[in-house]
Amino acid sequence: MPTPRFIIDTDTASDDAVAIMMALQWPDVEVEAITVVFGNVPVEQGSVNARFTVELCGKDVPVYTGAARGLLRKPTFAHWFHGPDGMGDMQYPAPQRPPAEGHAVDELIRRFAAAPGEITLITLGPLTNIALALLREPRLAEWVKECYVMGGAACTVGNVTPAAEFNIWCDPEAAQIVFHSGMKILMVGWEHCRDAANLDDDERAMVYSFDTELARFTIDCNRTATQANQSLFGEPGLPFPDPITVAIALDPAVCTQRSMHYVDVSCSDITRGMTVVDQLGVTGRSFHALTSSAMAVEGNDAGGNEPNVEVCWAIDVARWKETLYRTIR
Ligand code: RIB
Ligand code: CA
Repeated sequence: MPTPRFIIDTDTASDDAVAIMMALQWPDVEVEAITVVFGNVPVEQGSVNARFTVELCGKDVPVYTGAARGLLRKPTFAHWFHGPDGMGDMQYPAPQRPPAEGHAVDELIRRFAAAPGEITLITLGPLTNIALALLREPRLAEWVKECYVMGGAACTVGNVTPAAEFNIWCDPEAAQIVFHSGMKILMVGWEHCRDAANLDDDERAMVYSFDTELARFTIDCNRTATQANQSLFGEPGLPFPDPITVAIALDPAVCTQRSMHYVDVSCSDITRGMTVVDQLGVTGRSFHALTSSAMAVEGNDAGGNEPNVEVCWAIDVARWKETLYRTIR
């Protein structure tokens, strides 16, 4: 069995950092590159946070800088959730290494072209880098072995608007391009990163009791996120969307229910960034054929609205948390 190969695209703030750490610490996998995109924080800060995390884990994975804004939209950062530096304002030291030479989009194309069908892509932020790479080189969709997307909200509420999850909301046009590119995608929505999936007070205390540098990092850099989750969302505990997505990429059995559906992304008005998931398969039925021109999107003009994205509908919470603990004990 060849060693699983990963490339991670991230808007590195505190939950991304824990997700990156999990992948770097997981036995017998190779994280070959990290590409950074704007999102939680400006892309330059995301690069600093990613490089700090790589060095904290004692690795030397190259970190490439990507898009600083959306395809059509200016960035809206999430300092309100992750803190001014995105890392709980922990005042971590600056990373030793500079960003890797080259733009993230060029590097994504180059690396996947060199190993078609062999590398798994994990996206933890807005999909701008991926969309730009697809516009430059549409064959990227075939070259990516599979793509785990942290993003969206399948038939449920959003976290940044009533309709949309943050990563998709930041650049809905990019998400629409990626979701209709033909790439093999598993969408992990934020709905799986709430309630019991969060780390509660006891679990955070237990992690701290592991008494390792990475365990302390996991909790410390997410102190703002923990407070914000309570004060802004009124929800208990520490939500970990990116670590859950990486957990599924590392141990696919963490996702206990998944199925293919037609998924489109709204780019307008109050539903901007909404992932419209056809859970019942109605868009493929004949009575929609008459309206398919209204439903069809660029690159999907067959009007058939064939299922294009695999959607995660449930996770094994205990298994997800064990995946995290295994990497920081
Ligand atoms: O909505 C949650 C997502 O938005 C996570 O990836 C978090 O890091 C932010 O990017
Ligand atoms: Ca993220």
